[in-house]
Amino acid sequence: MSAAAKREGSQMAIIGAGSVGSAIAFACLMRSVVSELLINDFNAKVCEGQVLDLQDAAFVSSTKVRVGTPKECGQADIIVITAGARQKPGESRDELVLRNEDILRSVLEGLQPIKKTAILMLVANPVNVLTCMAQKLSGLPPRQVIGTGTYLDSVRFRVAIKDTLKVSETSVHAYIVGDHGDKQVAVWSSASVGGKPMLAFEEIKKMDRAAEAAKVARKAYSIIDLKGATSFGIAAVVSEVALCITLNKLSVVPLSTYCERFDACLSFPVSLGTNGVERIVYPDMDEHELAMVEESAVATRHACRNYRE
Ligand code: LAC
Repeated sequence: MSAAAKREGSQMAIIGAGSVGSAIAFACLMRSVVSELLINDFNAKVCEGQVLDLQDAAFVSSTKVRVGTPKECGQADIIVITAGARQKPGESRDELVLRNEDILRSVLEGLQPIKKTAILMLVANPVNVLTCMAQKLSGLPPRQVIGTGTYLDSVRFRVAIKDTLKVSETSVHAYIVGDHGDKQVAVWSSASVGGKPMLAFEEIKKMDRAAEAAKVARKAYSIIDLKGATSFGIAAVVSEVALCITLNKLSVVPLSTYCERFDACLSFPVSLGTNGVERIVYPDMDEHELAMVEESAVATRHACRNYRE
């Protein structure tokens, strides 16, 4: 089946039409990820304004865009939840949990009944914790409830390596895993470029790797300090994840998912297709990396304690 045929009749709903939701809508529109985009926001006026603006952009796309009611959005094939409070300058993603837990609960109630085959994608933060809550509250099988996790961090990481090694970022196989936040882990030990272990490159050996990883982890803070929010990077990520789903690509991408090995929702490379997560691919990690992941697992389990059996 051709890519266009696979997208035929497919719908994506975006809940939250703020700077992140509208940037995601724009990215998905430009790439004609689905046949129809539905946008919903509790602020009906802003939502209508965003939709009218997006409709002006739709002439370069094969995607239609309109306002969707919560019930209509619950029947979409891909449901992206961006609704939530965003980080203020200096605030960590973890500090958003109480505010965003309530928002997530009411959004999911509004969407019910959710289409049984839908893929629910969490974008709001703290994304691992919200993914865990949504797995419980949505009624969908866990493999169909994912979060954008450390995909964007991994992109930022690859770009940093690309500049050092003078190779395309698509040739860098390197992941940030665990937490999409301050506890994120750069897996240097099993990263590679062109089949050669990353740590075998002289430039990487000489690099202050801890400082480089910290820069990646702080990138969102820098953007928030300068412009108040991050939007375009995450929008590109969501469009790519949505294409993996509609085209059943089974690409291996780092997303928040329930990881049995750590008994918590954490971000790890998964192969993703139309049915959601097909498998988790845990990269080999050294003792230090593993210990850091365990630390995020403990924190995530604690934050999700009311949503676990
Ligand atoms: C960022 C948001 C998505 O890292 O948390 O840009």
